[in-house]
Amino acid sequence: MESKAVDQQPLSKNAQKKLLKQQRYESKKAEKKALLKQEKKREGERKRKEWEEKLAAAATEQEKQQLIESRKCLRKERMEQRSHDKEKKMTRLTNAKQNGQNVVIDLEFDNLMNSSELHSLVQQIMYCYAVNGRCTSPAHLWLTGCQGEMQDQLQRLPGFDKWIIEKENRPYIEAFQDQKERLVYLTADAETTLDVLDPKHIYIIGGLVDRNRWKGLTMKKAEDQGIQTAKLPIGMYLKMSSSQVLTVNQVVEILLKYLETRDWKTSFFEVIPQRKRCEDDNDIEWKEETEAKDDHEFKIHDIEREEEVEGKDDHKMKIHDIEQEETEEKDDHEFKRQCMS
Ligand SMILES: C[S@@+](CC[C@H](N)C(=O)[O-])C[C@H]1O[C@@H](n2cnc3c(N)ncnc32)[C@H](O)[C@@H]1O
Repeated sequence: MESKAVDQQPLSKNAQKKLLKQQRYESKKAEKKALLKQEKKREGERKRKEWEEKLAAAATEQEKQQLIESRKCLRKERMEQRSHDKEKKMTRLTNAKQNGQNVVIDLEFDNLMNSSELHSLVQQIMYCYAVNGRCTSPAHLWLTGCQGEMQDQLQRLPGFDKWIIEKENRPYIEAFQDQKERLVYLTADAETTLDVLDPKHIYIIGGLVDRNRWKGLTMKKAEDQGIQTAKLPIGMYLKMSSSQVLTVNQVVEILLKYLETRDWKTSFFEVIPQRKRCEDDNDIEWKEETEAKDDHEFKIHDIEREEEVEGKDDHKMKIHDIEQEETEEKDDHEFKRQCMS
């Protein structure tokens, strides 16, 4: 097959409009996040006040001690539950190394991204790892070609060293040199459409955040290397409002959802954000069914919130014993720690 040329293309009027729309969306998202942070802070203060009042209302010293003891017990139970959940997650991820579907994130593109795009990719990888850990049947995730700035940024993530993920400095083509026929590069530019996920295949996702600046790049790479390519069967199930090029974490999440449900339609509708989809009658029907789950951004936010709340609760209980003092930075740190563990 003839290789396609890959150029960095100037932005068309349409692309500029889209970029503006994206920027507006990002700023709204940041506003929402700030509001949420304030709300959480207020909620924390309210709960703390409630606890202090409860303590102050205790009629006797003995009653007060009982309240403190029962709170300590609750905390202990929660910690035990968390460590039990963590153990189960470790077991699932360790098993996935033996039996899980191989999914590779190709990290050989760090020279094509600016620092904010690199940062965004690192965040996406972090989400991929977190979502994989929650799956009942996780994939066997690989990070290949992990070098230079990319490696530095990943290494800076707290807990990255303990991640149960395959970290491979070599490019996938070297790491899997004896299994080249099993490699399938997933790319929106492929002619072949993915039908099912074959456990014998090793699916590769381009670790790239490029706002489609580097059109056709992964397709060309796969063609040059003589490996198979495939696109997700998005068009068979829904209409997109723009291109069918998804982000790395969306593709990983779709694959994970598919491994769980063996149903592409469910996987697409649960992962692809509403704003990226066109609504036709069929979609609307689906929208009603899945409305609460629809927005992927919302889901990511949910994960973030879940981690934050969990971390915060735990954190709050601990520091309550020390000084009943709480700072936003500590919360952030706790969230990161939880996310990485
Ligand atoms: C943000 S895209 C990068 C787009 C880039 N211009 C390229 O040439 O692939 C990140 C990666 O997600 C995967 N991907 C995105 N949309 C896809 C689709 N519709 N089908 C298959 N893979 C897709 C591809 O592996 C792609 O490299």
